[in-house]
Amino acid sequence: MEPRERLIVGLDLSSRKEAEAIVETLGESVLWYKIGYQLAYAGGLPLVAELAAAGKRVFLDLKLLDIPNTVAKGVESALSLGASMLTIHAYPHAMRAAVSAAGGTDVTLLGVTVLTSLDDRDLDAAGYRMGVDELVRQRAGQAREIGMGGIVAAPTEAAALRTLIGPDMALVTPGIRPAGGEAGDQKRIATPADALTSGATHLVVGRPIVAAGDPLRAAKAILEEMQSAPVADR
Ligand code: C5P
Repeated sequence: MEPRERLIVGLDLSSRKEAEAIVETLGESVLWYKIGYQLAYAGGLPLVAELAAAGKRVFLDLKLLDIPNTVAKGVESALSLGASMLTIHAYPHAMRAAVSAAGGTDVTLLGVTVLTSLDDRDLDAAGYRMGVDELVRQRAGQAREIGMGGIVAAPTEAAALRTLIGPDMALVTPGIRPAGGEAGDQKRIATPADALTSGATHLVVGRPIVAAGDPLRAAKAILEEMQSAPVADR
């Protein structure tokens, strides 16, 4: 895969207009866009079909979790919009429902193992019996067994998870910062090249591109850095 097929720009913006302006600015350089809560709930959902019609790929990051029937119907609706990747919280019942609803399509279903903002104390307070590392490993294994297309994880967890999930599943990592970039609120960060070398297949980059003075230049610099990473072809 070329770097352009691995870079996902996070459209973390509050209006469809701002998102369209960034897409226009980035032009042919960027293939993938991620739409999450912020833009989806601010009138951005029609952009999924619009981007798909323009030949772009859309990662719809709405992190579904509900009773199996509701997850299945939500996945069907998301697919009808034209999304190429979708996130589901990695609970076995939700992942099974999503996998059966997406059967026969080429969407990549991604399991969100444990949100990267949570630590062991947060899990304890939420009633879990195990810490973050153990729960991430358990859920990554379940995602593989259930037939999910991939998982979302911090780039610092990528190498260990790649060993656990095998060579074929997608491993999508946010928390990417170009060398010398601002970390912002991200804690477990890596450079684009390091994330790829650790086994990530796709990198989600938000602020380093969309909040840059010159987003096109920032995107091109990241694509160049990705090009230089020694990476197995997956
Ligand atoms: O601006 P930045 O590059 O930090 O954006 C990263 C994107 O990835 C945001 O849309 C954020 O919600 C998302 N994300 C994350 N950590 C996760 C899952 C998703 O940062 N564990």
